[in-house]
Amino acid sequence: MDDCNKCDPCTGLCEIVPEMAGMFKALGDPNRLRIVHLLATDTTGTMGVSDLAEKLGISQPAASQHLRTLKSEGFVISRREGFRVYFSFNRDRLVQFQDYFDLMCSAVMDRCDRELVRKTTRQTALNACVVFYSYTGVTREVADRIRNACGCDLVEVKTVTEYSAFTAYTTGVLHSRRGICDPITPDEIDVSRYDLLVIGTPVWAWKPAPAINAAVRALKGCEGKRAVVFVTNRGQPGEALPLLEAALAARGVEVVAAVSLTKEDMATRKAENDLIERIVEAYPLPVEDGQNRKIGSTKAT
Ligand SMILES: Cc1cc2nc3c(=O)[nH]c(=O)nc-3n(C[C@H](O)[C@H](O)[C@H](O)COP(=O)(O)O)c2cc1C
Repeated sequence: MDDCNKCDPCTGLCEIVPEMAGMFKALGDPNRLRIVHLLATDTTGTMGVSDLAEKLGISQPAASQHLRTLKSEGFVISRREGFRVYFSFNRDRLVQFQDYFDLMCSAVMDRCDRELVRKTTRQTALNACVVFYSYTGVTREVADRIRNACGCDLVEVKTVTEYSAFTAYTTGVLHSRRGICDPITPDEIDVSRYDLLVIGTPVWAWKPAPAINAAVRALKGCEGKRAVVFVTNRGQPGEALPLLEAALAARGVEVVAAVSLTKEDMATRKAENDLIERIVEAYPLPVEDGQNRKIGSTKAT
């Protein structure tokens, strides 16, 4: 879907809204939803108007009218055999509906997350910094979503020598098991101006990836700050979170929340929403001075 250059940012939703409205209207009736269910679960392929009318307990003209509506929105397909017309369900259209719905949900959720931040902190953006490493992109995706929700800054650390699929599972795993710090860029991360740190890493061999060990060491001005940490993994986080917490504690950072996420968690967005809530909860609220001005953290979006 192309940007329309009218919405900022364009999610592509504007283009599909009229089509979605028609789809919702077609599906927004109990009898039509029952028809969808009957046709989707029919194994005979010989459902006609009279069969559907009988199963629903409605007249044939009423069933015909419902079928026409579903057909005009592409959910139902008909085929003629002699004098009889049979109906079947168009699965592709439902898949398209789901894609549109997912797009709508993600656009709305981003806004809701923003609203959560604004309501709780009285600010539109958090003066926070997400420091993360990502090898295959999963942790980066989480970091991007945090930024979308909280309007904070991102610092992505990279290893000076990039890992290949082979070296990640050999040298990388070995470094991770030994808690080694890989050389990274940037080699210094000044976080002195932030009110909250968020540190994210993939789990490598049940421990934090070596690049994030280096990132924790590279933090400058982190003493006395609060942090939320998250790890992404395939269901076996092992000791990654406690180790990351301990490394941060050694740098004078207080970890107030620790979250483990899998790719599956992210698909449902529930775990990610929980993470955003934890970040918002962890954020120090600005204190008011005598003249009702906020002291401390404010950041323009
Ligand atoms: C070298 C290596 C070691 C890994 N070790 C583990 C592990 O011990 N436990 C686990 O659940 N997942 C493990 N994974 C999977 C990653 O933690 C998971 O896919 C993560 O979400 C990837 O994040 P990224 O895309 O930001 O790199 C490993 C992946 C790699 C490349």
